[in-house]
Amino acid sequence: MRRTADGSLEVGGLDARALASAYGTPVYVLDEADVRARARAFVTAFTGAFADLAGADVYYASKALASVAVDRWVHEEGMSVDVSTGGELAVALRAGVPGGAIALHGNNKSDGELERALRAGVGRIVVDSLEEVDRLADLAGELGMGAPVMVRVTTGVHAGGHDFIATAHEDQKFGLSLASGAARRAVDAVLARPELTLLGLHSHIGSQILDLSGFEVAAGALLRLRAEVAGDSGTLMPELDLGGGYGISYTGTDAPPPPEQVATALADVVRRACEELGTPPPRVSVEPGRAVVGPAGLTLYRVGTVKPVVLDDGGERRYVSVDGGMSDNIRTALYDADYTATLAGRRSEAPAVASRVVGKHCESGDVVVRDVLLPGDVSRGDLLAVPATGAYGRSMASNYNLVPRPGVLAVRDGQARFVVRPETEDDLLALDVG
Ligand code: LLP
Repeated sequence: MRRTADGSLEVGGLDARALASAYGTPVYVLDEADVRARARAFVTAFTGAFADLAGADVYYASKALASVAVDRWVHEEGMSVDVSTGGELAVALRAGVPGGAIALHGNNKSDGELERALRAGVGRIVVDSLEEVDRLADLAGELGMGAPVMVRVTTGVHAGGHDFIATAHEDQKFGLSLASGAARRAVDAVLARPELTLLGLHSHIGSQILDLSGFEVAAGALLRLRAEVAGDSGTLMPELDLGGGYGISYTGTDAPPPPEQVATALADVVRRACEELGTPPPRVSVEPGRAVVGPAGLTLYRVGTVKPVVLDDGGERRYVSVDGGMSDNIRTALYDADYTATLAGRRSEAPAVASRVVGKHCESGDVVVRDVLLPGDVSRGDLLAVPATGAYGRSMASNYNLVPRPGVLAVRDGQARFVVRPETEDDLLALDVG
C-alpha cells in the first residue's frame, strides 16, 4: 500500500479509485504478493529455527480467510492448512491441498465431518474431548482406516487481546485441561485405541498475542506432559503443535515480533525444555492465521452521510457513515478491536477532526473505527480505506439487515480479480424460499 503523486492510495499496483469504480464498494482488497511473502516468511523462519531440532511445519489457520485462492497461495509457499469445519475442509481440498497437509480442528466435530476428514486422508485430527476419542476411533474402525490424532490441551495460559479470543484458560469450551488430568486421560484413551495413532499434543493459547511469554509457558507444560507419558507408557509423541495467535499491527501502534523472532524464541524454549527433560525434541508445528492474511487486506468503503455530533464535554465528533459496517467487519463491535481509516481517493490538506467511522446497519454499535482523525473535508462520495482487515473480516461477515457480503478482490502486479465474488441481493432473495 502506498500513495500515488496525487494522494490516492495504491495497492498491488492499482489505484484505489480505479478499483472502487470498476469493482464497487465495499470491497475487501487482498494483496496476493503480500500474503505469499508473509506465508513464506513464516515457513522460512520456522524451518530455519527448528532445523537443528526435529523440524517444523507451518499451518495456515484458514478460519482467518477461507478461500480456494488463499489456501492455494499459502500451500504453494510451503504451508499446510488447518481447517475447523467441513466447509473449510472442502475449500482446502478444492484448492488442491493434499489431505496429508490438512489438520482438522473443532470442539464439536460432527460424525460427517470426521468421516470426510478420514476419507480425505487428513494428516491430523485434533481431538477436543474424551467423547470424541472413542467416537473417532469407532468411526475409523468402521471405515477400516487409521486416524492420526493430536490431543488439544488447555494449559491454563491466558493470552491475547480479548476474553472471547483467548482460548487456553480453564473455564471455556476448548481442549482438555492439563490441571484436572483430563488431558492425560485423553492421551491414555488414544493410546488404548489401536485405530488411532497419537502424533502429539496441541495447544492454542489465544489470538492477537504480542508477548511471546505465554507460548513459552504453554510449550514447557506440553513438553513436560509429553515426557511424563513417555516415561509411563514408552510412547514418545513425535510432534508438538503450539497453535496460532501471532498478533499484527492494526493501527500502526503495535509492534508485533517478526516471524524469525517468534520462531527463534519457540525453538529456544523447546530446545531447553527437552534438554532438561532428557527427551528428544518433537517436530513442532504452528498455525498462524491473522498474521498471514490480516495485514495483506484492506476494506475500501464509499462515504455516505457525514454528521457532526456534539459530545457531553462540548467537543464534537464527526460520524462518517460508510456503505458497509458490522456485516463486513464485526470485530470492532464484538471485541472492541481497534482499526484506523484513511482517505483513499485523494489528498486533503484540511485540518484533521475527531471522527468515528460507522456503518449503515440499524444498530448503534455498528462501528467500524471507533476513533480516528480524518480530514475535516471528508464528505459523501469520498473513498475510505480501513487497513488490516484481511483476517476475520470476510470470514466473519454476515448478512445482517440483508446486506450482501462484499467480495474479496485479489490484486497482483497491476491486475485485479475477485477470488470470492461479491454477493448480490438476488443471492439473498434466492435463499428465501418462503
Ligand atoms: N489455531 C487454532 C486452533 C485456533 O483456534 C486459531 C484461532 C488459530 C490457530 C489462528 O489464530 P490467529 O493466528 O489467526 O490469531 N475471530 C477472532 C479470533 C478467533 C480465532 C479463533 N481461533 C478474531 O477476529 O480475532
